[in-house]
Amino acid sequence: MHTSLSQHHSNAPHGWPEGALVYQVYPRSFQDTNGDGVGDLPGITQRLPHIRSLGANTIWISPFYPSPMADFGYDVADYCDVDPRLGTLDDFKELMKEAEANKLRVFTDLVPNHTSDEHAWFKQSCASRDNPYSDWYVWCDAVGNDSSGNPLPPNNWRDALSGDSAWEWSPQREQFYLHSFNVHQPDLNWSNPQVREAIKDVMRFWLTLGVDGFRVDAVYWMAKHPLLHDDSINQEYVEGEDLKYEALAHDNSRGWPAVYAYLTEMADVLKEPQFQDKPRFMVTEAYPDRHNALPAYMNFYASVDPAVAAPFNFEGLTLAWHAAEWRKFLKSFHSALEQFSARCIASYAFGNHDQPRIASRLGEPAARSAAILLLTLPGMVFLYYGDEIGMKDVPIPTEFIQDPAANGDPKHHLGRDPERTPMQWSAERNAGFSDAKQPWLPIADDYQTHNVDAESQDGRSILSLYRLLGNKRASEASLLHGDLHVLDIENDEVLGYTRTSDGTASDFAVFINFSAEVAVFEPTVQLGKLVVSSDPQSELTAVLPDVITLRPHEAVLCYLA
Ligand code: GLC
Repeated sequence: MHTSLSQHHSNAPHGWPEGALVYQVYPRSFQDTNGDGVGDLPGITQRLPHIRSLGANTIWISPFYPSPMADFGYDVADYCDVDPRLGTLDDFKELMKEAEANKLRVFTDLVPNHTSDEHAWFKQSCASRDNPYSDWYVWCDAVGNDSSGNPLPPNNWRDALSGDSAWEWSPQREQFYLHSFNVHQPDLNWSNPQVREAIKDVMRFWLTLGVDGFRVDAVYWMAKHPLLHDDSINQEYVEGEDLKYEALAHDNSRGWPAVYAYLTEMADVLKEPQFQDKPRFMVTEAYPDRHNALPAYMNFYASVDPAVAAPFNFEGLTLAWHAAEWRKFLKSFHSALEQFSARCIASYAFGNHDQPRIASRLGEPAARSAAILLLTLPGMVFLYYGDEIGMKDVPIPTEFIQDPAANGDPKHHLGRDPERTPMQWSAERNAGFSDAKQPWLPIADDYQTHNVDAESQDGRSILSLYRLLGNKRASEASLLHGDLHVLDIENDEVLGYTRTSDGTASDFAVFINFSAEVAVFEPTVQLGKLVVSSDPQSELTAVLPDVITLRPHEAVLCYLA
């Protein structure tokens, strides 16, 4: 542990980021304003009112820095500038100004684990074994040669995108360098204090420009086994079915304890005096081992000051859509958080640019009830662009595949393009995304009906549901920072919980039918009026009966009496 417990035990401040609704923009796919088929920063600025209409108070913008786009911006060639295809630093400043006018805070995406191989640091590091940057990356000698005379890498680690060896031979240095992701994304050497200082300076650069904090990329990889021991074999791996990367258990190539010391150094930047004019925060990307999620989340809160940091909670992406699973998780997670410190902020994401879309994973009716779940959970909640209009994964014809991760997926060969297709704004050409002949990824076939314009006209659309829920969340103290209490409902298919706070604020109850059958149950609490049902065909009216009948996959938000 790197922070003292006593400093956590103050009252939760009940201000941002608690209760935040964060909208994730994948900039290449949001709005193109210069007709090149790729979204840009002025496009985001133009569309801020849409984000605001959802009741969101924060945006997270995926990387827009200069990049050769080997991993579409997660290969950063310069941390402190804007890729010319996406705009300029002045465009970013304009975006910040307009975000403030729209009462939106801004997280940028910080990629500390690796740079692009085009980054000046890496070019220097490659050049020789004794220059100021030579120890900025993870370099290693060959351990011998194979029968054809090719140099052999030091261990069995694999790269997360292709699933092939994570080591690449540099003929220039006559050594291997480590790339935990793409071959064009060399890992920085975080055990080198100069590297840590350089990344902290990057944080200071953006904080000085006014950003409210960061989404921090791929943090588990920042610390690996210092002696580079082999990863264990994953016994559950199914060849030809699972991603190639999953063949190993990754017990040594990532998640070494030093990661929390590094993150604490980064968290300390957010606490520097010059950045105390407003709250600053960081949310880290770390997918916990499925068998070990709760301890992994709690370990993070115990190790990095929760006043300025939280780990993403990825249960909305990974937990099975079953009432019992959610009941168990919510009970255990929120009681663990409360017991640990009132300062801990949960941070739920149900979608992002790396995962199949929620409407495709669950189907439309359950995706609508997931909207009620997400927007009534405590802490920060993250909404991935397009999920508010029910966008689905788009099949990508082979000739249009862009994502390098497609190579590591033996079964579908798709990678993450299907969930990154252009935002559907209107029924116009290219869904109003771009004037280009061909946007960088294909537009979904359903764009004429599933778009912001059409759904804005329809009070029963998923967009109208999101707007109602988001604005309710923004204006109700109990939803922003109230307690969560899971109800013991005598129907295994139904999850019920309340959100309550002290004082005069309205309190709420949520009930979700996770099954494809009708569900009947007694709510066990005194209900006031119905706020909203996820199902446009709901048979419930404003005044709720003592015994409630939910349609298949229906969810409801109601007042407590
Ligand atoms: C994170 C990003 C993903 C990227 C990877 C490497 O997981 O979300 O898109 O490929 O890190 O930066």
